[in-house]
Amino acid sequence: MPETTSDQGRVRSLDKQFAPFITAGELDAAIQRLAEEVQAKYQGRRPLFIGVLNGAYFFAAKLLEHMPELECEITFVKVASYIGTSSSGTVTQLIGLNERIEGREVIIVEDIVDTGNTIAHIMGALQEHHPAGISVATMLFKPDAYSHDHPIDHVALRIPNAFVIGSGLDHDGLCRNLPGIWRIIDEHA
Ligand code: IMP
Repeated sequence: MPETTSDQGRVRSLDKQFAPFITAGELDAAIQRLAEEVQAKYQGRRPLFIGVLNGAYFFAAKLLEHMPELECEITFVKVASYIGTSSSGTVTQLIGLNERIEGREVIIVEDIVDTGNTIAHIMGALQEHHPAGISVATMLFKPDAYSHDHPIDHVALRIPNAFVIGSGLDHDGLCRNLPGIWRIIDEHA
């Protein structure tokens, strides 16, 4: 389990140390701003939010909590990737998607977009179901790491290209329960 050291409020997880980066209050305020934007955009369109497990559970809950006036649905998927035939390359399968999404407005809910590979695969898999539109809402976005062209529509906070944990984000499965966001300390800096 994460161990909080007394010096400078750092947290140790396995062999790594993390320092406070974004407080829970700052994060919640950013999510609330984003929720208001999404709520206004999708008013009257009854969108389906699709949270990507495991990491998005925290952000999805907070996001929807802050948009009580929007008529909407939410579901969650897990992503499994495997190498398909030589013509298809990597195939992404969405596990747990039982809703009919043809003709619907879909919003993918992610904890963090880094290179963008994951979200690109998810969008490809969802396109096959012919939704009316797909957009992305992410809690954190690392623009310097992003390597795709598709715009990330709704971002709560943009962060530098560093490994972070907390609020659903894990370090080898640990630390999702830390409040706020913590940034890895580069021992070589
Ligand atoms: P991408 O495919 O490179 O955009 O990475 C997406 C996934 O990698 C996220 O859904 C996270 O599971 C994981 N990830 C990327 N950056 C971080 C980070 O800084 N902390 C924890 N997980 C991360």
